[in-house]
Amino acid sequence: RRGAAAEPDLAGRRVVVTAGGTREAVDPVRFLGNRSSGRQGYALAATAVARGANVVLVSANADLADPAGAEVRRVGSAREMRDVVLAERANADAVVMAAAVADFRPATSAESKIKKGADQPATIELVENPDILAELTRERAHDHQVIVGFAAETDNVLEHGRAKLARKGCDLLVVNQVGEGRAFGTEDNQAVALGADGSAVDIPHGPKEDLADRVWDLVGGRLAVD
Ligand code: CTP
Ligand code: CA
Repeated sequence: RRGAAAEPDLAGRRVVVTAGGTREAVDPVRFLGNRSSGRQGYALAATAVARGANVVLVSANADLADPAGAEVRRVGSAREMRDVVLAERANADAVVMAAAVADFRPATSAESKIKKGADQPATIELVENPDILAELTRERAHDHQVIVGFAAETDNVLEHGRAKLARKGCDLLVVNQVGEGRAFGTEDNQAVALGADGSAVDIPHGPKEDLADRVWDLVGGRLAVD
């Protein structure tokens, strides 16, 4: 187990980590959001700091204390996250997308609070958000950047994971198995890290810090040697 006392194997490396869940405005007081706590992304940031990395944490709506030593950039919506990630990724050795990014947002955000009325309930029209991860891989900042996605799947985990990895074009996809009678958010998750090189590494059940350290092990093995 690595930690603060271990070899700072990420010293001199610059990494960008996203965390939390984006919120998409419906009107000035309402949003569409998700239940992501941000804990996995914060654990990734904290463990990367412990291993010597220069860390930018792009945090969406997480109710967590800033990890010591990380530069925290707070965002709200998917489009705000996209702008910050694209600005920060240029000279990053690795980008890890642990955030739950809303797939859709309301087509328009009302300027005034929506009121109850005779013709309610109204329908909220949705449009698709930019796919930040796919954008990162479509035009890579540089050849040696390691790009990591996270996914939660309920069934056919390997099959769905492989297809998603290919679709996103990332180097690693960390797939959590959820559901099958287990409540979302329980600790009883099984994860597998799928590599674009065809590899599949099981990550045993454990604290989010341990999963984060395993992810950095896999990222570290893919970083360019200088
Ligand atoms: N992601 C992203 N931008 C989006 C949606 C997702 O960057 N608009 C990233 C997430 O941060 C995550 C990865 O893509 O690292 C996989 O997210 P997931 O929701 O599993 O993928 P989707 O392509 O949205 O597929 P699904 O239909 O299963 O939601
Ligand atoms: Ca999604």
